[in-house]
This record gives sequence, structure tokens and C-alpha cells, in this order.
Amino acid sequence: MTDFLTIRKRTHYCGDLNASDDGKEVILMGWAHRWRDHGGVVFIDLRDREGIVQVVFNPDVNAVCHGEAGRIRSEFVIAIQGRVRRRPAGMENPELRTGEIEVLADDLEIMNESKTPPFVLDGTAEISENVRLKYRYLDLRRPEIQQNLILRSRVAAATRDYLHREGFIEIETPFLTKSTPEGARDYLVPSRVNQGMFYALPQSPQIFKQLLMVSGFDRYFQIVKCFRDEDLRADRQPEFTQIDVEMSFITEEDVIRSMEGMIAHLFRTCLGRELTLPFPRISYRDAISRFGKDNPDIRFGLELRELTDILKGSGFKLFSEIAAAGGVIRAIKVDDGKGLSRKDLDELKDFVAQYGAKGLAWARVNPDGWTSPIFKFLTPVEVSAINERMAAGEGAVILFVADSPNIVRDALGNLRIHLAKKLGLIDPKVLGFTWVTEFPLFEYSETEKRFVSTHHPFTSPVLDEVPLIETDPGKVHARAYDLVLNGSEIGGGSIRIHRKEVQALIFKALGLGEEEARSKFGFLLDALEYGTPPHGGIAFGLDRLVMLMTGAESIRDVIAFPKTQKATCMLTEAPSRVSVEQLMELSLKIVT
Ligand code: AMO
Ligand code: AMP
Repeated sequence: MTDFLTIRKRTHYCGDLNASDDGKEVILMGWAHRWRDHGGVVFIDLRDREGIVQVVFNPDVNAVCHGEAGRIRSEFVIAIQGRVRRRPAGMENPELRTGEIEVLADDLEIMNESKTPPFVLDGTAEISENVRLKYRYLDLRRPEIQQNLILRSRVAAATRDYLHREGFIEIETPFLTKSTPEGARDYLVPSRVNQGMFYALPQSPQIFKQLLMVSGFDRYFQIVKCFRDEDLRADRQPEFTQIDVEMSFITEEDVIRSMEGMIAHLFRTCLGRELTLPFPRISYRDAISRFGKDNPDIRFGLELRELTDILKGSGFKLFSEIAAAGGVIRAIKVDDGKGLSRKDLDELKDFVAQYGAKGLAWARVNPDGWTSPIFKFLTPVEVSAINERMAAGEGAVILFVADSPNIVRDALGNLRIHLAKKLGLIDPKVLGFTWVTEFPLFEYSETEKRFVSTHHPFTSPVLDEVPLIETDPGKVHARAYDLVLNGSEIGGGSIRIHRKEVQALIFKALGLGEEEARSKFGFLLDALEYGTPPHGGIAFGLDRLVMLMTGAESIRDVIAFPKTQKATCMLTEAPSRVSVEQLMELSLKIVT
């Protein structure tokens, strides 16, 4: 039997055909997306990577071919030869890119059959994600998800174009390496040749890219997998991809300018969108006080306001007692509170309870006062001071939380986002980019009872503040910057320490003994003694960036074979047990 492919080659992708192809003889190959039999005429929606086209099998044109077409079911792989024609007037489908035309088939080969898929691929049914991930190869046939991965490929290509043009060199760094300093947990890989020893998969190429600056490469980049054994969320995966960048002889302004150029290039070439540069910047302190988060979504208002000073002496005991105990009272305001019923307000109380808030007080602003459970406890002066601070006019609703600063910040920071979504305050067309700067260099860890690095221990302090490292570490700022888009941290980086005296001060402040520091990063400390240039860099989360560019709900929708929230792969069933022989070869024993 002669194989279709040996005598005929595909002439077009299905989705590329349009009215200008009217009359052309074409050969198409793909999957039967849908099939219908209308009074003896068989219609197949033929799908390939580029889209869908309607193919018609008419018994009057070719009876044999029409007979064969009757066997076609969903997801059969078929090749057809036929002629493009305009659809009869009134039969056009504006939903489809190819909707003005159809292909009248006069030859058909069924190249392969398919079992009935476990779910329909036309996006009409709600499918559980676990089923989608188990049959990921079928899920990946869905046009939406194919488009996501095609865009991802274009973003990676545009990144390489931009960075090569700007003089960056792509260099690969090892995956089998030693623990890196990002703070999350390492994935370990046992060594067979060196029994009892382990490699760690890199959480980032941080140390290697710094060493490449010591070596004089000047500008490095890599699109690289990173591995972190963290608890997962919708925007986190145990293995994810960074666009990793490092530059020498630069300041934070150079990194920021160069990276804004890159992001603008990606949006222009991949989405046809022009961004306004420079992006706004906000200090960490302002981000926390105005938005309750260090990754603020700046696309809408509902900003947090401080009310402790007004309410600390008030007749509402609950508030005055919390203030006296070192707590704070803050609030957000919804301008048009009509959409918030009593029932909604009760539900919001449950919402903030997730973040540890013990209550949520509310006030509806009327011309002659408030409707509020706490109105009776407050003086007219306090009420009008609050109205003024909140800029609350008639019809506004004010929502108050009183608690420790961290609980108030988390409760209101998250309530703000919850309300914006619920009340439809976010314009999906707006892109809310902002740099967050002036991070503290250290954070005090209550569990470890010591200072820890906010980013990583190689982040440079602001130079004027170096003397404070020994006297008041909590006051020192980092030369670090994060890029946030629509409330999601898409990148972060810093200027690094390039002098060993400063690095030693930092390790001391972190309570990291000289020996421990040497055993962890001795090679970097050695390198600092051989002429390290001033340098700094950044890394972007490619998955998160593409998720935001495509409008996908989850990072999993832009990764071909993602892991579940439990870090498992439904398709391959990784992780899995291994044989005793494999363990013996590595001299490992499972103890539980
Ligand atoms: P950082 O740890 O901030 O910095 O990571 C950089 C960016 O990577 C993305 N990201 C993730 N994406 C998906 N899943 C994850 N688990 C995950 N973790 C991080 C985020 C983040 O902004 N070496 C430094 C960079 C530097 O200083 O140059 C680093 O790794 O978008
Ligand atoms: P109560 O007198 O306990 O009914 O509280 C009066 C109002 O204050 C109610 O609306 C409570 O939800 C609210 N409330 C209680 N605790 C807090 C808190 N920690 N912060 C803000 N509001 C609170």
C-alpha cells in the first residue's frame, strides 16, 4: 500500500487558510476536532497547531472518500486533499479565523484511529485538573494551551534576541552542584561514584553568575531551570525557569534601565503592546503601608490608611486596648459601597479571619453620620477625622482591622485584592508594572531568633549604611529591586557585595560562623580576593511572566508538563519508589 506521505506533502496548516485561498487545491493533515453528518454530507472540523478548518465530504463529489469519512470519530488522525471554496452565503462562522471558507475533500486517508478521549477537547466541558494532567498529551492538544506554549517559545526567542543585541553572552551553569543561598529547600541527588555524598540541584545560578563576573564575561544571561522544594501555590512550581542576568561595572540604574528595555521589547514583539517607560517605583516601606504587600497590585485604589493615632484613645475599648498593647488600627475604603450587603460584610469577616484577624469593623458613610456597629462608641470628632483621613464621601464603606501590624497588613492587603476582584475594580487591559526598591537588607526571624537575609547574603547594603550592620542591622537597606506586574513578583535582583570585608560583616550579622560560611560558599569568598569587579543582576520568572502575558489563571497553563500542588507529576507518576538494587548501588537505605 502506498503511504499518503510518500506521495503527497502537506501544503498548508489548517488554521492558515482564508478567503484569499479560494479555489486552491490543498493537502491538510491533522486531528478530527468535531464531526457531524448532515443529511448524508459529512463535516469534519480538522485541527492542527495553527487552527481549525471545516472539511466537507459530499457523496456527489467522491463517493468512496465520503464512505470512508463516515468512519471518522473525534481525534482520528487524517490527511485530506481537496479544494478551498467560499462557504455559501449565511454559512460563514465569524468565530473561526478560517470561517469564511471550507475545503471540499476529494481524497482522504485515515492515518490513525483514536480511542474516545477521556474528555472533550473543545473547551466546552469543565474538566478536573488532575484528569487533564494525567492525560497531558491530550490536554496539550487544546488550542488555548497550545497558544500559551507557542507564545512562551516566542518570548524566549525575543529574550535571546534582545540580550544578544545588548552584548550579553549565554553561558550554561551546572545542575549537579552544591546548595545555593536562596533560602528555600534543596532537591538532593545522591552520587554513586562518591558514596554517601549528594549534589544539590540549583535554586538559581546565583553563585555561578557572580563567578562569571569575576572571570570577566561582563554581561551574562541564561534561560535556565531552577529547583526549589517549597510549598506550592498557583504561581509556584518546584522546577521553574528563570531569565537570569548579571552585569559588571554597573549600578542599579543600569540594570533597571536595561531590563525595562527587555520587558518592553518582549511585550512589543510578542503581544504588539507598547509599554510606557520608565516603570513607576515604590519603596518597600510605602508598598507595605499603602498596599499591605511587597508585591503591590497598583491597578486599583482601596489603599490602606493608618488610623491608630485617631482611634488609640477612643471609647471603643477593643481598639484602644489593641493600640495600647502595641497593635495598630488601619482601614481601607470602598467608594461606592452599595454593592456590599450586610451578608457580604459578614463574609468579609470570615475572609480576613484566614489571615488571623479577629474581626472586621465596618462603617457605611451617610450625610448625618455612619451606619456602623462601632458608631455609638466614637465621638463626632473621631468620625469626621476618619472620614477625612479616608477621603470617604457619602455612600462609601470603610473597613477596619485592629491587630498586630503583621496581621493587619496581611488581612487588609489580601482583602483589598479580594474586594477589587469581587467588585470588578480591575481593568483587565491595564498592565500594572512597578519596581519595588529600598528593601531592608535583613529581616528578624522570630523562629530562628536571629537576622536572616531578605534576599540572599551576597546582596550589597546601601554603602552609607554599612556602619549600621554591626550596630543596628534592622535599619540597613539593600541595593535590591523587584519587578512586580499586576501584584505578582516577576523578577528580583540586586547589586552584589564585591569586597570581602563587607561580605564578612554580613556573615557576622547573620550569625554565620567563619567556618560555616567557608564550607558553604568558600569558593565565592576565595574568588572575592582575586579582583572581583562591582557587579549586579536580576532574574525573572519566565513562567510567571508568560502566565501574565497570556492571561492564564495558573502557572501550570504555560508549562508543558507541570507538577501538581503536591509536587507530583500525574502523567509519569513521579516521584516514585526505586528498586532496592538502585538504592544499594547508591548505598542508601530508606529508614521510614
Ligand atoms: P528570586 O528568588 O527572587 O531571585 O527568583 C527570581 C524570580 O523567579 C521567580 N520564581 C518562581 N517562579 C515559579 N516558581 C517558583 N517556585 C519560583 N521562585 C521564584 C519569581 C522571582 O521573582 N538569584 C536571585 C536573582 C538575583 O538576585 O539575580 C533569585 O533567584 O518570578
Ligand atoms: P463586638 O463589640 O465584639 O461585636 O465588635 C464590634 C465590631 O468590631 C464588630 O463589627 C467586629 O467584627 C469588629 N471587630 C472585632 N474585633 C476586631 C478587630 N480586631 N479589628 C477590627 N474590627 C474588629
